[in-house]
Amino acid sequence: MPGIRGPAEYSQEPHRHPSLKVNAKEPFNAEPPRSALVSSYVTPVDLFYKRNHGPIPIVDHLDSYSVTLTGLIQNPRKLFIKDIRSLPKYNVTATLQCAGNRRTAMSKVRNVRGVGWDVSAIGNAVWGGAKLADVLELVGIANLTGSTDLGGRHVEFVSVDRCKEENGAPYKASIPLSQATNPEADVLLAYEMNGETLNRDHGFPLRVVVPGVIGARSVKWLDSINVIAEECQGFFMQKDYNMFPPSVNWDNIDWSSRRPQMDFPVQSAICSVEDVQMVKPGKVSIKGYAVSGGGRGIERVDISLDGGKNWVEASRTQKPEMHYISEHNSSDKWAWVLFEATIDVSQTTEVIAKAVDSAANVQPENVESVWNLRGVLNTSWHRVLLRLGHSNL
Ligand code: MTE
Repeated sequence: MPGIRGPAEYSQEPHRHPSLKVNAKEPFNAEPPRSALVSSYVTPVDLFYKRNHGPIPIVDHLDSYSVTLTGLIQNPRKLFIKDIRSLPKYNVTATLQCAGNRRTAMSKVRNVRGVGWDVSAIGNAVWGGAKLADVLELVGIANLTGSTDLGGRHVEFVSVDRCKEENGAPYKASIPLSQATNPEADVLLAYEMNGETLNRDHGFPLRVVVPGVIGARSVKWLDSINVIAEECQGFFMQKDYNMFPPSVNWDNIDWSSRRPQMDFPVQSAICSVEDVQMVKPGKVSIKGYAVSGGGRGIERVDISLDGGKNWVEASRTQKPEMHYISEHNSSDKWAWVLFEATIDVSQTTEVIAKAVDSAANVQPENVESVWNLRGVLNTSWHRVLLRLGHSNL
């Protein structure tokens, strides 16, 4: 792979923001403090969570870096960064969320394997780049194609990083060809994040962004795009990032029984206060994020102070000064909404948030009902305990 290489060890990792909380032995998986998430609609690049399965690749020569388009297509070709940049540029505001977001809370029910994320393995960015649908047109695949003449039905993205889960081979994942060739799905080959050149942690020089889908499918440091008949057979598609039922354990697991997880379910989390935080009696502002997959909007965010018997509705915003309306032209369909409600606290109180999406999907009440051995997709009602006492809130 000319121009880019994946190192075997961690001596050349990029600098990271000191307030990120490191969630692994190696310093490459990190999330911001939860309060940082609700301070802006667009998450600053420095504070965006980082999820890397191996050392960060190094670009030696940007001019010689290219992406190979190959597989079940008539005319395979190489695309250089200048070829990608010469296509129409789109800016798509989209929330990226790791399927393992809120895993720590799931592990309190029963042990799970995976990086111990709190509520911040999520961020919202403006991704700039070319549409994958336009790139595929360059090799003769028309928009809205479900299958190529040679039988291609999936689009696989392969990187250059070396992942121990793949026995030292690169990270890879795929999406259906019908999604890849649909301009409305807004799948990007992104070279910018929040108006800046993508940085190394987030995939420099080129990454895939699949809006509305778990972060694992948005492959960074792209090396090749392969049109294939069956979905990608890599570890992260066939084993990791699948949701197993609560009854499955490490002795009875049958990996082939589950489909790779794609869209993420409706989710919300309270970020302005920590779980088990001391507050003074009086008004407390409850702020957080809510998001759903597949481009579904957020219809409601409900707040309860009595275990779910009574609820009040929180206000929702995306862009400042603009009322958010789910599924409206003025709303960013792939992006989170920030919610806010002011509550009155006179005793120790558990605050609960639950979101409802535009298809009326609701977060499940209990984490037990969605528990799975890999600890993915914890979308249960989010709860924080506020204790009455001394605080500077
Ligand atoms: N792409 C490559 N090449 N290697 C990786 O380890 N991690 C995936 C995805 N793309 C990964 C990858 C996962 S699991 C997630 S959640 C997102 O990248 C995280 O993207 P970010 O680090 O830019 O936030």
